[in-house]
Amino acid sequence: MNPNFLSSSSFLLVLLSALLVFDELPQCQSFFDGYTPCRNNFSCGPKITNIDFPFWGDLRPSYCGHPDLKLNCERGKPTISIKGVKYNVLELRQETHDLKIARADFSDGICNPKFGNTDWDFKLFDFGPLPVSTDITLFYNCSSDTEFIIPGVVKFKCGDDEDGLISLEAKSGNWVCNSNVTVRVPFGIGDLIGFSKTMVEEALKEGFHVKYKVDFRACDDCRGSKGVCGNDLSSNKTNCYCPNGEAPVGIPMTCPLGSASKSEGPPQQAGNFDPSFVYLRISALVLNFENRTWYCLLYVWFLLVIFSKRCLD
Ligand SMILES: *[C@@H]1O[C@H](CO)[C@@H](O)[C@H](O)[C@H]1NC(C)=O
Ligand SMILES: *[C@@H]1O[C@H](CO)[C@@H](O)[C@H](O)[C@H]1NC(C)=O
Ligand SMILES: *[C@@H]1O[C@H](CO)[C@@H](O)[C@H](O)[C@H]1NC(C)=O
Ligand SMILES: *[C@@H]1O[C@H](CO)[C@@H](O)[C@H](O)[C@H]1NC(C)=O
Repeated sequence: MNPNFLSSSSFLLVLLSALLVFDELPQCQSFFDGYTPCRNNFSCGPKITNIDFPFWGDLRPSYCGHPDLKLNCERGKPTISIKGVKYNVLELRQETHDLKIARADFSDGICNPKFGNTDWDFKLFDFGPLPVSTDITLFYNCSSDTEFIIPGVVKFKCGDDEDGLISLEAKSGNWVCNSNVTVRVPFGIGDLIGFSKTMVEEALKEGFHVKYKVDFRACDDCRGSKGVCGNDLSSNKTNCYCPNGEAPVGIPMTCPLGSASKSEGPPQQAGNFDPSFVYLRISALVLNFENRTWYCLLYVWFLLVIFSKRCLD
């Protein structure tokens, strides 16, 4: 092969890849668009509507909310699973970060528990002092000769020969039972004096309130800059998705100035030089670099390999 041809072909190759790179870069940079999917809201049934961050599920992919706050919609009934226990979602007030939930397995009585103890990640959930709620423990299949009167313990029956006990304490007294499950009821301990099985069943159907906590301040900042909140799955921290696939800038994260106005507002005038705008643009590029350039580099490398194979063969 003539060396002139080789060098000119490698020059062509470089030119071609450069063209391709510059042509593909904008597509590479908008590779991940969290904004469009996370703008979808979750709605299920008549009461749970227009739910957004920190929840996900249905039309909202996992990166739109906290991993442990996935909502499901089962035949028009919203549910959430928390530490392996399924709850019906009865109310969800986003302004006050308040959930009202009731265990799904106790919606028709306490005799068929399907899940384990009601359990919490207290980094994410909080009961607060009000409204009051309390943990009680249900014991199942207890040895049937338990004849006693103990304050705070009530006997109940499931079928003819299945005796159970409801106890205000999780620890066992002098009784032997086959299984137990700790559940939350919307009462204070004091309100449970002289309680009955029916009362506990009603209380479990009624459900209880729990507050959820994530970084809402970061989310407010994001929303304030026309972004949509999500969750960074690698750190479980509140994330911000911007219109047009742009990367958020700064701490706390906000969308670059004008990213929302690209489609709506008047175009930026060329003579109107605004240094802070340029600064934000540059930071956006740098941040983009961290998030996305690896894909671009990989892509370029891939192209180079293919083209060098094709051209040199
Ligand atoms: C989603 O819900 C929020 C309130 O939580 C509302 O501001 C927004 O307009 C809703 N978005 C859509 C697309 O309905
Ligand atoms: C109680 O025992 C019966 C019969 O052995 C069993 O079918 C049932 O599942 C048990 N209930 C619980 C809650 O363990
Ligand atoms: C409740 O059940 C768990 C197993 O699920 C057992 O380890 C625990 O000892 C039981 N508690 C009481 C008080 O019996
Ligand atoms: C994020 O949360 C999920 C669910 O709680 C957990 O499995 C995962 O390990 C967490 N990731 C990080 C990086 O903390």
